[in-house]
Amino acid sequence: METYYFDNSATSCPKPEEVYKAVEAGIKDYNANPGRAGHRKALESGKKIYEVREKIAKFFNIENSLNIAFTANATESLNFAIKGGIPTGSHVITTNFEHNSVLRPLFYMQDEKEVSLTFVNTYKEIEENIKSSTKAIVVNHISNVNGTVQDIEKIGKICKKYNLLFILDASQSAGYIDIDMERDNIDILCLTGHKSLFGIQGIGAICLKEGVKIIPVLEGGTGSFSKLSRQPKEMPELLEAGTPNTPGILSLGAGIDFINRIGLNKIKEHEDILTKRFIKRLRNIDKIKLYESFTENQGPVISLNIEGIESSDLAQILDEEFGILVRAGYHCAPLAHRTMGTYETGTVRFSFGYFNTEEEIDYALDALKNITLQI
Ligand SMILES: Cc1ncc(COP(=O)(O)O)c(C=O)c1O
Repeated sequence: METYYFDNSATSCPKPEEVYKAVEAGIKDYNANPGRAGHRKALESGKKIYEVREKIAKFFNIENSLNIAFTANATESLNFAIKGGIPTGSHVITTNFEHNSVLRPLFYMQDEKEVSLTFVNTYKEIEENIKSSTKAIVVNHISNVNGTVQDIEKIGKICKKYNLLFILDASQSAGYIDIDMERDNIDILCLTGHKSLFGIQGIGAICLKEGVKIIPVLEGGTGSFSKLSRQPKEMPELLEAGTPNTPGILSLGAGIDFINRIGLNKIKEHEDILTKRFIKRLRNIDKIKLYESFTENQGPVISLNIEGIESSDLAQILDEEFGILVRAGYHCAPLAHRTMGTYETGTVRFSFGYFNTEEEIDYALDALKNITLQI
C-alpha cells in the first residue's frame, strides 16, 4: 500500500538526496576521529565538521561558530541549557506547550535546585509574570502538538529589557521559520538536526550567545587540553565531551545546504499552503474537533480528534486502511493537553513537511471525511 507520511514533527521523512550522500561520505571518506589525531584523515574529518559549524553559524546568524557545540539531539542541548545555565534558586517562566525535554529538566531544577516555575500559554503573558527573582525564559518556539507559534522577537525584547536568559527550543521551528540569534536576542538556541533541518537522527546542537556562561553537565575527552584535569572552559570543547557523530554532523550540513538551495521562505510558504488547506476543509467536516494554534500564527502541526473514536484507534485506522502515517497520544507534551482539554483523550497529530503535496493533503482529508461518515 502506498504510504502518506504526516509525522514530520517526529522526524522528517524522506530526507533530501544530498543528506543520504553526506552520511555515506561521513562513514566512508571522513571516518577518522576528528580532533583526536594530527594525521591527514583526522584533519580532513575535523575540517568537514568545522565547515558545518560555519554553515549553522551563517544560517542562524551566530557571530562566532565556536559558540556552537554539537550534541545528540535537542534533548541533550536542553538539558545542558537548563541544568547548566539556570541559576539555583531562581524563578523561570516557561509555557504550557513545552515538550518533556524541557519540562523534565525544569522539574528536576524545581526539585533539586530550588527553582520556581511559572507556566503561561503564550508570549503575551510573559512580561506580567516577571518577578525580581526571574532569571530565565524557556520557550518552545512551535508547539509539536498544535502548532502554536510563539513570537520570539517579542520575547527576545522582553529578555533584553529585564536582563533574562532566553533559552529557545527550536526543535519544530528551525528549518521552517527564520531564526536570528542576534535579532531575536536568543542566549541559548537548542536544535535537533533530524526534523526540519533534514539531518539524520542522533545529531543536534546548542548555540550560545557570546559571553553566556554554562556549567557543563557532561565531562570527558575532548581531544584537546588532554592534561587538564577538568573540562575545558573554551567552547565548543566545554560542551563537546566524547567522539562526535561525524556522519550526523555532515548530514546536518547537507540539510542546511538543501534549505539554502530551496530557500527558507519557499519552504515555509509551501508548508503554510498545506496547513491552511488542511485546516480550511477540516473545519467543514462534522464530528471533527480541531486543535489549532493559541497565537495568531499557525505552524505546520495540527491536532484533531473525531468524536467517538479513541485517538490511538483513529491513527490505526488511518494507517491500516489508508496508509496514512500520523502520531496519536500525548506527543511528550502533557501540559499542552491540559491546556487544550485533551488530557484524557490525547490527539491525532498531522505534521507536514516540505516533501508533502496538496494532493496528499486532499487524500488525507477524504480519508478523514470517510471515517466520520462511517460512525
Ligand atoms: C518541541 C520539541 N522539543 C524537543 C524535542 C526533542 O527532540 P529530540 O527527541 O530530537 O531530542 C521535540 C521532539 O519531538 C520537540 O517536538
